Amino acid sequence: MGYHRITLKVNGTSEVVDVPSNMTLMQMLREKLGQTGTKNGCSAGECGACTVLWNGEPVNSCMVLAVECDGTEVVTVEGLAQDAQLDPIQEAMIEEGGVQCGFCTPGILISARALLIRNPDPSDYEIRDAMVGNLCRCTGYVRIISAVKKAARKINSQAKPAVSELVN
Ligand code: FES
Ligand code: FES
Repeated sequence: MGYHRITLKVNGTSEVVDVPSNMTLMQMLREKLGQTGTKNGCSAGECGACTVLWNGEPVNSCMVLAVECDGTEVVTVEGLAQDAQLDPIQEAMIEEGGVQCGFCTPGILISARALLIRNPDPSDYEIRDAMVGNLCRCTGYVRIISAVKKAARKINSQAKPAVSELVN
């Protein structure tokens, strides 16, 4: 089995990793970098539990080879919180009760965050469409969709300029 040395950025940190040719991005994150928030639900591109942002796009990391990630940037669920502050989608999922066993949650959070980056005010249909690759066996999705809508409201209210900025 050939090994390859790759360099990539994971959650803002540069990493140099030696990976076998057949190692997936998911395996590299979990086994080489200790980023176990990315879950292995099926290893077959079906469940979305392994979703990460790869160069800004949500992908099933079990379907990407680690060697393909040389020179690229990956964000996992561990990279969502900033400065010990949860991301609005994380807060909203807790507040709306969108988490039960939690196995699907990292992938759901990443897919939802990716949606809100490209569409800060999604409709119910757009939310359902964006989450179509993320399976959840527990929640029935209603609370997850509520959480995405609440996160959108939080993000949009944060983005608004303060009244003092409007006046001056
Ligand atoms: S573990 Fe990757 S899609 Fe299920
Ligand atoms: S919360 Fe259990 S699979 Fe989604």
